[in-house]
Amino acid sequence: MTFNKQLHEYVNKIIAKKKIDMMGKDNAFYTRLMSNIDTIDHLYREIYGHNPVADLQYEALINTLIDAHLCRAKDLRDKDENKIEKGIWFLSNEIAGMSLYVDRFCGNLQHLSQKLSYFENLGVNFLHLMPLFESPEGESDGGYAVTNFRKIDERFGNLEDLIHLRKEMQKKDMYLMIDIVLNHTSYHHEWAKKAKAGDKNYQDYYYMYDDRWIPNQFDEKMPDIFPESAPGNFTYDEACKKWVMTVFHRYQWDLNYRNPTVFREMMDNILFYANLGVDILRIDAPAFIWKETGTTCQNLPQAHTLLRLIKHCVLVTAPGMALLGEAIVAPKDIMKYFGTGSFTAKECDVAYNATHMALQWDMLASGDTRVMLAAQHEILQKPYGTTWINYTRCHDDIGLGYDDYMIEHAGRNPFEHRKFLKDYYSGAIWNSPAKGALFSSNPKTGDARISGSLASLCGLEKALEENNSYEIDLSIRKILMMQAHSFFLGGIPIIFYGDELGYTNDYSYLNDPRKSYDNRWMHRPVINWEKNKKIEEVGSIENIIFQGTKKLITLRKNLFVVGDHKNLTWLTPHNHHVAGYLRSYDDKKLYGIFNFSNQTVYLTWYAFKEHGTFKPTLYDYWKEKVFSVGLDNDYLVIEPYGFHLMEPRD
Ligand code: GLC
Repeated sequence: MTFNKQLHEYVNKIIAKKKIDMMGKDNAFYTRLMSNIDTIDHLYREIYGHNPVADLQYEALINTLIDAHLCRAKDLRDKDENKIEKGIWFLSNEIAGMSLYVDRFCGNLQHLSQKLSYFENLGVNFLHLMPLFESPEGESDGGYAVTNFRKIDERFGNLEDLIHLRKEMQKKDMYLMIDIVLNHTSYHHEWAKKAKAGDKNYQDYYYMYDDRWIPNQFDEKMPDIFPESAPGNFTYDEACKKWVMTVFHRYQWDLNYRNPTVFREMMDNILFYANLGVDILRIDAPAFIWKETGTTCQNLPQAHTLLRLIKHCVLVTAPGMALLGEAIVAPKDIMKYFGTGSFTAKECDVAYNATHMALQWDMLASGDTRVMLAAQHEILQKPYGTTWINYTRCHDDIGLGYDDYMIEHAGRNPFEHRKFLKDYYSGAIWNSPAKGALFSSNPKTGDARISGSLASLCGLEKALEENNSYEIDLSIRKILMMQAHSFFLGGIPIIFYGDELGYTNDYSYLNDPRKSYDNRWMHRPVINWEKNKKIEEVGSIENIIFQGTKKLITLRKNLFVVGDHKNLTWLTPHNHHVAGYLRSYDDKKLYGIFNFSNQTVYLTWYAFKEHGTFKPTLYDYWKEKVFSVGLDNDYLVIEPYGFHLMEPRD
């Protein structure tokens, strides 16, 4: 804590006008405010110091922090305290998540409250609810084009329903994650409407230009995010006769964070979400929040300063709420969202392990672990105290965004290798078991990402069509191996809804003109609860995948060593088809061994002797079987797409 007399007096003056019980019930808040205000001040001045309304908005910002604290319900304040006592709660091995669209999962929020036993049965105790706030039906980008940050879209219910759900979840010790769509609003948001109507104040909330002079400068370096469905980064608005920055879709207007009023308004929304009882706030697309001509307008230093500012404001008012930065960018850039230098572990608490996710798909297609291993020196840089979301699939596409040198390091040609992966998953290779599609192909650069559900990309859809029982069995093994590999890496595992029982692609989106332009909808299923009943039918595909997933979650919850203690070591690649890692904590160890090839493979027992004291046996939690560690010239035999979760024992 830095003591800055002038600043502290300034804050005290603001506080004096509020009903704050500094020595009593608000003491912890007051202490947090005073110990963070110096940092908040620095970060704020760094961005807004020269802005004419900086001071006015600064005072408003402090008032926002205080008011949000005063509105924070007693149970949430108690939960904050509990979390602080637990240490860094989100590093725990006991958290297992699911991400879902409320309407497609079960209709609305009220129904979701009645589905909690489904999650309990599976072991899921953390829910990521896809965007819930008001968004126009046809032009919503799955809810990521918000018209009102405070009103739940009628399709899902209302705020009371959400609060009720959160309270029911809290009774069951479940955690909640929702999104704040920070980078843009819908062009139907009231700010945008006022801007369109010519209100200069609100035009300054967005990037709006009379002609193409500045837009052209931006466009020179800015890549296209959706080159097929929404090329370019600006859209001409007839109503106000201006070019508006629209990095994503033309109906998503980018917010202008150079304007301190925008920052303060959005900070207010963030704290509003905190007070709904959110445990982790997913900051959507943080890489894009600062724009500068002559750059790609992604990952700019000012974006990090803003995130740090948000983090410190949240620390003051809602210390129990963690921040997830949804930065799906190059490996070394992702790491920076955890904070750097004196802000290490003081920016976003959580990030998507997008690099590793994509690398798992790389390994599955190629049967080769070398590209994945070449990327680990970046991924392992993650600072202690922060964590990953580990996942195999989410609502978005799979981008092959890892660096070329990682592919070269594995002895492959980056262009050819990426082409192979795209062909493999989009079915362009005739004998590929995968059924997916290319998303956002960019003819200018040759880039493309991949859509498709976990099951379809693992071959289940094709195997079912061909009624090929061997391939069905193989695809189930792939699904469970992919999940196991990500569940035990360290970080919060998040299952995408439907994947827990093997939903294949849903092509009905093609008949809906509001969705047909975006093939990410193929892997966003509408849950059919009749099908879901099959999880009870012993031996059904749904049952095998559900029970397998459930077993993995149960194991994870019982193994403290797999929490995120920054305790992951990759094994020497004795066999390049096998990805092997060691998780260790004190004298506890767990080996995760995964065969990414369609062949039976052999791994020398020496692999288990390289790290620490030798133990003669290995207990495999997955197969519930004991293995004796053999001689170095003898092998552990691993079936195609088989895996082991082994603990060394005497
Ligand atoms: C994030 C979301 C994605 C959305 C984009 C624009 O990347 O995950 O679904 O299209 O932001 O909001």
